[in-house]
Amino acid sequence: MEILKKIPECKSVVNNLKKKCLIIGFVPTMGFLHEGHLSLIRMARKECDRVFISIFVNPTQFGPGEDFEKYPRDMKRDISLAKKGGVDYIFYPAAKEMYGPYFKTSVEVKELGSIMCGKCRPGHFAGVTTVVLKLINIVRPDKAYFGQKDYQQLVIIKRMIDDLNLDVEIIGGPTIRENDGLALSSRSKYLSVEERENATILYECLKIAKDMIKKGEKDLEKIKKTIITNLGKNRFVKKVDYFDFRDPGTLEYLKRVDKKGKKILAATAVWIGRTRLIDNMIIKV
Ligand code: PAF
Repeated sequence: MEILKKIPECKSVVNNLKKKCLIIGFVPTMGFLHEGHLSLIRMARKECDRVFISIFVNPTQFGPGEDFEKYPRDMKRDISLAKKGGVDYIFYPAAKEMYGPYFKTSVEVKELGSIMCGKCRPGHFAGVTTVVLKLINIVRPDKAYFGQKDYQQLVIIKRMIDDLNLDVEIIGGPTIRENDGLALSSRSKYLSVEERENATILYECLKIAKDMIKKGEKDLEKIKKTIITNLGKNRFVKKVDYFDFRDPGTLEYLKRVDKKGKKILAATAVWIGRTRLIDNMIIKV
């Protein structure tokens, strides 16, 4: 496994692989790898000739006062996990390698980037799409893998790739959960023992929403009210940024279940103490 820190170095490796017509799989990450990332790496390993990951805690997707400084980092552990997972190349640039002193460009997917998490984290998705586009231009993968836990991010990236006619297939990997249902996330490292126990409430609420829909409830606003009341009863829940029902393809806001066979995205962002967690579930009606 090779670690590439410079953009020209990475581009030259990619050029050589392209000359040999090898299929490149790419898993962009911010490091502190967990089973969610490793499952994406396994998918890439199965489907591609060479597997790249990037490890880059992207400063432009963090707002002022967010956790950029304290975002967990452990390169030694990441290298060992990547090696065991069969990664061929880690692209590991410094911030000044990615954003030179004259950097001015931003890529934004309008509307989709300013709802749900984008409403609570202004500028976040422009930071994500800009860095993902840069990474894709550097690594030039045939297939790029993103976790469905960040469902809105996945939809936005697919939209950008389509809108800008980029030749890369975007593949979503399933959310990986702990035994008690908590979706794996690097940020759960911030939780105290008690907060960690109570963090399962996100998944529990998604399951309640699913049950209510399966039992025939058509009024999604009513379900939302029940869920938000439920969340409010837990003393570890400091704030509910949103609990929404959306169309899984377009992220259009849904108020009612209209058709049988339709899929509905239930998505939520909740502060457990000082940690913001997100989760979602696709519910088939
Ligand atoms: O999902 C993430 O870890 C990040 O948003 C990504 C896609 C690596 C961009 O920095």
